[in-house]
Amino acid sequence: MKKIVIAIDGYSSCGKSTLAKQLAKELDYIFVDSGAMYRAITLFFLRNNIDIQDVKAISAALNNITLTFKYNSLAGKSDIFLNEENVALQIREMRVNDHVSDVAALEAVRTFAVAQQQQMGQQKGIVMDGRDIGTTVFPDAELKIFVTADIDIRVQRRLLELREKNPSVTEAEVKQNLQWRDQIDSSREVSPLRQATDAIVLDNSKLTREEQLAIVLGWANDKINK
Ligand code: C5P
Repeated sequence: MKKIVIAIDGYSSCGKSTLAKQLAKELDYIFVDSGAMYRAITLFFLRNNIDIQDVKAISAALNNITLTFKYNSLAGKSDIFLNEENVALQIREMRVNDHVSDVAALEAVRTFAVAQQQQMGQQKGIVMDGRDIGTTVFPDAELKIFVTADIDIRVQRRLLELREKNPSVTEAEVKQNLQWRDQIDSSREVSPLRQATDAIVLDNSKLTREEQLAIVLGWANDKINK
């Protein structure tokens, strides 16, 4: 059967990764959470006190980073490894949330990550979610989806996720972080968050996970059978 590339972009905490993961499972495709790559790079920068104004330090740091995804059968998803260390949990910490958009705006970081993402998509049969997948990483993707949801619904979703690990996190803190990241992601010079002209918009504010999956599977099958 024909294999396609599916690009899913959108604002923070719209459920892009959840959707991408479900879709990949249904289609037996590879799922790649590109945000996890920017988060792992940010974790490395934080641990090694890399000054993000220092171009040489950034380039040296990137030379010391190897990112890989390995399937975790217990979790039913791939975990990201930073230089052979599983950092799937550490990359979700608030300190990473606080710095990731600044790190992801750096040109050298984007060149580094995008090259690896494009490599992963060469064989097609992939669902990747992020901010620039339909515009920069896979401009020729057969199916591009731009996900959006009401900001208060996004805050509640992220709050639930963060409170599992850190019960003291506040709603105001989460809302501020989401809005701040969306603003930096949309206004940066290199590969800003944009809806590709040929993307289909999916507002999932009022959809259950199952409803959203059914809609998107329909779109994917249309493209596959075309
Ligand atoms: O998707 P997630 O929220 O985990 O992504 C974390 C951050 O990584 C985003 O806020 C954004 O700054 C950056 N990112 C990006 N381009 C992507 C994916 C994520 O700039 N393709």
